[in-house]
Amino acid sequence: MTIQIPRGTYDVLPEDAFKWQKIEETAREVCALFNYKEIRTPIFESTDLFQRGVGDTTDIVQKEMYTFKDRGDRDLTLRPEGTASVVRAYVGHKLFGLPSQPQKLYYIGPMFRYERPQAGRNRQFTQFGAEALGSADPSIDAEVIALAMTFYRKIGLKKLKLVLNSLGDPESRAAHREALIAHFKPSIGEFCADCQKRLEKNPLRILDCKADHNHPLMATAPSIIDYLNDASRDYFAKVKVILDEMGIEYELDPTLVRGLDYYNHTTFEIMGASQGAITTLMGGGRYNGLVSELGGPETPGIGFALSIERLLLALEVEAVSLDTDRSLDCFVVAIGEKAEQKAPVLLNQLRLAGLHADKDYMERKVKGQFKQADRDKAKFVVVIGDEELDAQKAVVKNMADGVQEEVAFTLLTNYIKEKI
Ligand code: HAM
Repeated sequence: MTIQIPRGTYDVLPEDAFKWQKIEETAREVCALFNYKEIRTPIFESTDLFQRGVGDTTDIVQKEMYTFKDRGDRDLTLRPEGTASVVRAYVGHKLFGLPSQPQKLYYIGPMFRYERPQAGRNRQFTQFGAEALGSADPSIDAEVIALAMTFYRKIGLKKLKLVLNSLGDPESRAAHREALIAHFKPSIGEFCADCQKRLEKNPLRILDCKADHNHPLMATAPSIIDYLNDASRDYFAKVKVILDEMGIEYELDPTLVRGLDYYNHTTFEIMGASQGAITTLMGGGRYNGLVSELGGPETPGIGFALSIERLLLALEVEAVSLDTDRSLDCFVVAIGEKAEQKAPVLLNQLRLAGLHADKDYMERKVKGQFKQADRDKAKFVVVIGDEELDAQKAVVKNMADGVQEEVAFTLLTNYIKEKI
């Protein structure tokens, strides 16, 4: 019996892997432009990191984590997101003590959530995320958003919509929380069991409930925007002014609460062209309390994450192709036993000289070797047989125009390098 791939996962075969490479390359390039440095953290962490970091009342922690005990009876979880790990590392390595602040970090790697799989919703998915820790300057909020936008534009997406909100500071949030409790409490019996628990623990989560999103009280719920205190409103205004001046368009959405608990002040999402039910390509926001929550000093932070899976779907919808040159420089065709012995040596020389080169390993006849050269999109075919070996020469065929020339072995690499 063949073994099936786990539900919600997939393989990236070579014919698609080049797209992933291109996307990852672009992410790294854009991060370098913005001076964000890579951080790599483990794929699994202590479960309490996410319970405390992402929040006990979130769907992620309550329903979606891959949690297990290891042989030493430790509670571990495959990371469902990257921010908590980055903050754990920032605290653990005392990066807050470095003179270079903010610490501007990025990551690309797999995340795991036990969700109902569909296009753009996987159980293992790959996030590209960036986090700026240590600055409460509104221009860094705008920078993080600009980074994501620049990345999508460089990849070739055009149909993007930035949605923006502010959840305010702790004082604003406390006032909003009381208003939400007063709004929902009289009718909380009409809501799902999760929402009933959320009412006292974290009423903001009710607004994010998938089961009750059509309840009439949802549309009339008090909006955070009306509860922002002066400092929070002022901060948000500054972020918007910078975005305006950068020419980054956005839509305000006071219902954008995000699915993780650590957010305050600026929150944002980028939506893409419709791909069925899922349109959110990227999400992020400010999390000023998270560093201290995880044992570090009071430190502001902001970041975003996006998945490569959803980006690929959006590229498909917008018919953007990521084609890159995947051709071989040359393919060595050997005729006869002596040539077959010489071929690997010649090939090795070509490769050491920096040429992308290959040969046949399937005992193909000459015609079959040429066919393989075609499949590999070889620009040149280097043919060697008895005569060529005696003369220490090869016949080099330019596959674009069919022109053939005899080239001495000693001149071969230079010849091909000059032509390509
Ligand atoms: P999030 O909104 O949970 O935020 O996820 C961010 C992005 O990850 C989503 O917009 C989506 O592109 C992608 N994503 C999430 N779940 C899946 C899935 N099951 N399959 C495919 N793609 C998925 C966070 O994770 C925060 N850590 C973002 C952040 C960084 N906030 C501040 N810094």
